[in-house]
Amino acid sequence: MRKPLTALPALTLALAVLAATVLARPQPAAALENGLARTPPMGFNNWNTTGCTATFNEAFVMGVADKFVSAGLKDAGYTYVNLDDCWALPSRDGNGNLVADPARFPHGIKYLADYVHGNGLKFGIYSSAGTKTCNTKGFPGGLGHEQQDADLWASWGVDYLKYDNCNNQNVDARTRYSAMRDALARTGRPIVYSICEWGRTGPPKVWEWGADVGNLWRTTGDISDNWSSMISRVHTNDDLAQFAGPGHWNDPDMLEVGNGGMTDAEYRAHFSLWAEMAAPLLIGSDIRSVSSTTLATLKNTDVIAVDQDALGRQGSIVSASGGLVVYNKVLANGDRAVVLLNENTTAATVSTTAAAIGLTGSPSYRLKDLWSKATRTTTGSIGASVPGHGVVMYRVSRGDADPNRHEAEAAAIGQGVVESNHAGFSGTGFVNGDNVAGSYVEFTFAAPAAGSVNLSIGYANGTAIDRRADISVNGTTLAAGASFPPTANWDTWAVRTLSAPVHAGANTVRITATTAGGNPNLDYLDAVGGSAPVDHPTVTTADGGPDLDRQSVEDR
Ligand code: GLA
Repeated sequence: MRKPLTALPALTLALAVLAATVLARPQPAAALENGLARTPPMGFNNWNTTGCTATFNEAFVMGVADKFVSAGLKDAGYTYVNLDDCWALPSRDGNGNLVADPARFPHGIKYLADYVHGNGLKFGIYSSAGTKTCNTKGFPGGLGHEQQDADLWASWGVDYLKYDNCNNQNVDARTRYSAMRDALARTGRPIVYSICEWGRTGPPKVWEWGADVGNLWRTTGDISDNWSSMISRVHTNDDLAQFAGPGHWNDPDMLEVGNGGMTDAEYRAHFSLWAEMAAPLLIGSDIRSVSSTTLATLKNTDVIAVDQDALGRQGSIVSASGGLVVYNKVLANGDRAVVLLNENTTAATVSTTAAAIGLTGSPSYRLKDLWSKATRTTTGSIGASVPGHGVVMYRVSRGDADPNRHEAEAAAIGQGVVESNHAGFSGTGFVNGDNVAGSYVEFTFAAPAAGSVNLSIGYANGTAIDRRADISVNGTTLAAGASFPPTANWDTWAVRTLSAPVHAGANTVRITATTAGGNPNLDYLDAVGGSAPVDHPTVTTADGGPDLDRQSVEDR
């Protein structure tokens, strides 16, 4: 007779079965968690302009690093100067180490990395998760040499690795790429890890496992410098938005902007779409000699801000029909970035609505065209005539959601000028009092009934000196020589509040500079009904309130 199982042996048996099951299955890879690439990487890679030609050498890379600084690309956010294939000799040295090609890089790679770092930039290198890299000359790959190569790169000061997929000996992609992830981690050096597997193998596809392994992964084959190649990379990427986020991005390949195979308008579309997709922005043209138009495209800070938005969402398709496509990207401050794409060769109207991009409940919406910089308001329809092979790109925000806000740029101005050359303001600009006593801004607003109203004046004073002004309501001075103290810089906005008596109907508030320095930069007046006692001016924080924060993100 069989002995019945008691509770304890049964538990032991269950644990044993569980352990066997767990051990038999491949362990899920540990998450990458290297803290890098919280926004899509921005920088340069030589491949799309030099390929493997002799142009790719030390002088070229140093010239690129210099141009990052002199052309303002570094200031625009471009950081990584990355080498692609063909930097090494075809054979490792006697110790098995990779060797830089001395004809291209006579001082070696560490020298170059130091130079790039000296410009305040970061430095990247290339290899392949195979026995050789992709170029037919047969440069050594990293398969089986992961730790030795990672250690060497770390010793050179490498900050970024692009790891290609050629000559992979049919070893499982996730296994190969995880081996290098772990080798990089063991170096202790923060190195952005770019998986270049092209979305080739699987399922599971690289975007399904990539976030645990790398900071970005190629989703496509190589881009070419023409419209159809560029657009087909976009469409491969269209359905992958759910896989992108801070630290882990879909990579539809490097930029062709400036390489000559597309028109300037097509390159603007290319750049807009990459930003909309939260794609890495790796310049692929010879920036030492590109046109001013190309540089302007690459330095469009409004478009870059969409790419680099802190929320890290990849835009996705709202509608697509007959080559007319609408993309929508939700931004951290609640705004939307909308790309109206026309894939046909003749101009067409492309349109959507605020509701279709998830914006409702505001009487109007503000549209900023990120290429022309024009702004306009709409009650809901969002559309434009889009040139063939082109885009119109808007940043859409809740427009005059606050009926109590009165922008200085829309007020009566005496001896002042409307400007927009600082960050963080509300509306489309602010008024510079032009450094003269007597300059003024006069706001007009309607009060529903007589009584008092709470006024908030948004301003910036980037000088070290208090800028004083008379604040009058309906012609009567309410606060003489009122204080507008320094706000540290012209990008930092403060709010001065006071309460004012008003009568029913139209009222005016005039702010008149009383000293030779003129008014502070005046941004807006909020007039909100209240019953507070008249005249208790206070200066609040230099950071502004929630409204200002919203704007400062938007206008950054
Ligand atoms: C592959 C990659 C390209 C480039 C070349 C270099 O094709 O996808 O981006 O790195 O190799 O040989």
